Amino acid sequence: MNSCNGFASENKNTINPDFQADLDFELTAKETDIQLFQGNTTKVWMFEGNVLDGDKTTVQKLGKSYLGPIIRVRKGQKIRVRFKNQLPEESIVHWHGMHVPEEDDGHPKDVIANGETYVYEFEIMNRAGTYWFHPHPHGRTGPQVYNGLAGLFVVTDDEEQRLKLPSGEYDVPVVLQDRQFDNNNQLVYLNRGRMDRMNGFLGNRILINGNPDMKLSLKSGCAYRLRFLNGSNSRFYKLAWEDGTPLVIIGKDGSLLDSPKSKPYVMLGVAERIDVWLDLKNRPQGSQMIMKSLSFSPGMMGMMGGMMGRGRNNLPLGSTYEILKINIDKTGSNDFELPQRLAEFNKLDPATAVNRNNPRTFRFFMRRMQWTINGRTWEMTGVTEEETVKLNTTEVWEIVNRGGRMMGNDDMMGERGWMRNRGEMDRDRGMMGGGMQMPHPFHIHHLQFNILERDVSGVDSRIWNSVKDGFIDEGWQDTVLLMPGMSVKLIMRFEDFKGLFLYHCHNLEHEDMGMMRNFKIE
Ligand code: C2O
Ligand code: CU
Ligand code: CU
Repeated sequence: MNSCNGFASENKNTINPDFQADLDFELTAKETDIQLFQGNTTKVWMFEGNVLDGDKTTVQKLGKSYLGPIIRVRKGQKIRVRFKNQLPEESIVHWHGMHVPEEDDGHPKDVIANGETYVYEFEIMNRAGTYWFHPHPHGRTGPQVYNGLAGLFVVTDDEEQRLKLPSGEYDVPVVLQDRQFDNNNQLVYLNRGRMDRMNGFLGNRILINGNPDMKLSLKSGCAYRLRFLNGSNSRFYKLAWEDGTPLVIIGKDGSLLDSPKSKPYVMLGVAERIDVWLDLKNRPQGSQMIMKSLSFSPGMMGMMGGMMGRGRNNLPLGSTYEILKINIDKTGSNDFELPQRLAEFNKLDPATAVNRNNPRTFRFFMRRMQWTINGRTWEMTGVTEEETVKLNTTEVWEIVNRGGRMMGNDDMMGERGWMRNRGEMDRDRGMMGGGMQMPHPFHIHHLQFNILERDVSGVDSRIWNSVKDGFIDEGWQDTVLLMPGMSVKLIMRFEDFKGLFLYHCHNLEHEDMGMMRNFKIE
């Protein structure tokens, strides 16, 4: 099925001469200084791409920012990436959303030291979608991404090409990240120590594509495809056009939707992507569109949650702020039309799942001041029976953001101990060390799933009412945002490769603290 399989991981520092790569490039992670602001330069870490063989335009530098190159590939292509680590610490690159063998997935056990090279060789098996790549060393993913290491990995296929969607200059990346800088223009991270780790780090300004000026310059008379990636460490967004124009969504994570969807706003969790259709045909030259993150209730409980965003950060999670300014300062024309039908085969049939009525359940909750999954934290190669699945099966997984207690009352763990109603929550909110709950963006490696259902019966109504119109539960996805009290049922198929892969919370501080586990396909 796949010729790059059967490649022993000990050989990952050398190339396989039998692997015929359509695209062969070096990806070097290194420390450098860039001019982000006037005055002092900023020390960042960045990925630099260098095509050795293949079409040079497929690895595109994104402006002058720190973000990694955009890599554009097509389903069926074979690619070789020679990752060179020139950072002062260990690292490894993960291809977020991509269906690749274990040794090409960027598992933390595969980290390489400074000066070493890791060779990835895999075939693009994914369908058209907006994927991305970032480091994945255990305990250091947060700081490495924060320092600048991330890039888009865009896949196209025949089905997408037939739709004649906006391409070239009309296919525009919009990577959203928050950062904080000190008076010398240097990045600030985890400046509030343990509280930042527990909550996730929030910066106090938004960068678009690694640029602090938050502007895009587009043409009147044209239609665009904007590819949004939430590349933030822990911040998530309620995206909306300021003038009330609906957002037209054509894709989510690993696929185009069946058909375009109009939304008043979209909740974009950490690591999630949406493809947005933007029609500027009737917008005059000289006008502007502003995208904001609208206010919502993130529902963070307990002492630390309560303190978050009060006074200490001028861009609290869930407040209203500007994300992006689009200056329509040029004029042009193109004839891209929004198709009414987009992608086919966007669903797995629940009847084919081996555990349809008895899903595997994974609870995300805090236990003994630790973020856990089913009460467990990270083990490098550890995997349990309940995390082991069979190749060539389809399963339903239930992901639950509920359970546990903060102060180590193990007997209170599970449904019984959870704060089930508003009164309980209000009591706990005022209590030091009371139950703490937070949104968790669930992500699984190696595959794309469908969302079968989102159960919000356990979600506080203030939270739910502030976000309820913002979810896109269609198409193929690899990351899903769970608000406190929420649970989702996902359907997924394990195919092509056996191996050890990850699932975790994509709040990078939670992930680094150990809210991450292996699952095994055998
Ligand atoms: Cu963006 Cu483990 O992933
Ligand atoms: Cu991933
Ligand atoms: Cu989390």
